[in-house]
Amino acid sequence: ARFGGAALAAALLTATQATTALAAPGNPGAPRYSAGAPSLGDPYFPDQGNGGYDVRHYDVTFTYDPATKVMDATTVITAVATQDLDQFDLDFRGPQITSLTVGKHPAFYRRDGQELVVTPRPKLKTGETFTVTVTYAGTPPVVTDPDGSIEGWVPTDDGAFVPGEPQGAPAWLPANDSPADKATFTFRATVPEGVTVVGNGRLASKTTANGKTTFVWDSAEPMATYLATVTLGNFVVDETTTPGGIPVYTAVDPRLVTQSAAAVAKIPDIVDYFSSIFGPYPFNQTGAIIDRAPDVGYALESQTKPIFSSAPSVGTMAHELAHQWYGDSVSVGKWSDIWLNEGFATYATWLWTEHTGGATAQQTFDSSSNYGRAATSSFWQVVTADPGPEDMFGNVPYNRGAMTLHALRGKIGDAAFFTLIKDWATTHRYGNASTADFIRAAEKVSGMDLKAFFDVWLFQKGKPASW
Ligand code: ARG
Ligand code: ZN
Repeated sequence: ARFGGAALAAALLTATQATTALAAPGNPGAPRYSAGAPSLGDPYFPDQGNGGYDVRHYDVTFTYDPATKVMDATTVITAVATQDLDQFDLDFRGPQITSLTVGKHPAFYRRDGQELVVTPRPKLKTGETFTVTVTYAGTPPVVTDPDGSIEGWVPTDDGAFVPGEPQGAPAWLPANDSPADKATFTFRATVPEGVTVVGNGRLASKTTANGKTTFVWDSAEPMATYLATVTLGNFVVDETTTPGGIPVYTAVDPRLVTQSAAAVAKIPDIVDYFSSIFGPYPFNQTGAIIDRAPDVGYALESQTKPIFSSAPSVGTMAHELAHQWYGDSVSVGKWSDIWLNEGFATYATWLWTEHTGGATAQQTFDSSSNYGRAATSSFWQVVTADPGPEDMFGNVPYNRGAMTLHALRGKIGDAAFFTLIKDWATTHRYGNASTADFIRAAEKVSGMDLKAFFDVWLFQKGKPASW
């Protein structure tokens, strides 16, 4: 479902496609077919996302063998046309397609970079719900990001590690790959017996026959494509419940159980503490996937099941769990707003540290990795609310983002600040929100004019001297 990109897509459509739309003179009610926009216009990832439709559900059925690295997959996308369509794009970087149908009808398609261009016949009318069924087979690719890190489908020594932020999901499923078009997901994964597949949401079933096991994972709440995972391999699985009643599912590489034990043991307390300050946990399950993927070297807040490429610290665990509220439930619509994800998750960790008797948030703010950095440091030369694709996961959206929140708390006071961040999670639950929305919300709750404050912290370079 789309919450953010429609206007952008419409603007693009007007600019690039309007001349090809067929006028229907003398018959105003007749459909006016045109091609959906090939992009949602995010300047950081201009190929991402597509216009003309709104995805409601992805149903991905596949077999995968870690020994051969071959996937055999069929993805069924259920979507609603938001314009009369004679053509639309999906984003797909995956292996060879062997068939593609729209509804029951085989459709003509061609591939152009990550664009999968589909020509549905019959054409689709505005408001029409349609399915696209794509069958493909081969080895899904590793995707390299502007910051040099890898994502997509990353083979491990016993399976695959599957992170998707910001552009990895189309490695293994055809998608409208934009955080602005959230949808529900079902994964049905068949692997050799003994391999465990861990997906988002809840495990609906696990059945074994003829040496193969099929895992069905269901995500009932809307999810951005970049948060999808089906990480698989040898795992020690444990299930428990937080004191507050949230089911916890953890899957840990047997070689990392000891090193991970402290962070895993804290999951229930972290989730319940964050629920007390951010509002109810937004999903029907929580947990973690802890794997050995040394070439990845980062963790990701995959919805309901953050993934870790090595044994995490308690702080990293807290960061990824905080993202379930800030990033996963409330999502950015455009990547330049990434500080809304990373600054919030980082600040949440400062709060957790203080809550558990460590440094206070004020001490962390003052420290040498934060406000204590010299004014001459290059750290101060990246713009928090527009870091660019190479620095979107660099220190600035994380640390200056968290500093922004702490400075805001000082400015508007604890009562307004904690009301603001809780309301933010409630008001935009399962949706998308922007920096402009946040500034408006902060001004409203505090009754203050915060333009100059946010300008200094979010939009200007340089170390803020006063605010
Ligand atoms: N959002 C992740 C985290 O902070 C980091 C993802 C990094 N991805 C990347 N392609 N560099 O938890
Ligand atoms: Zn993060």
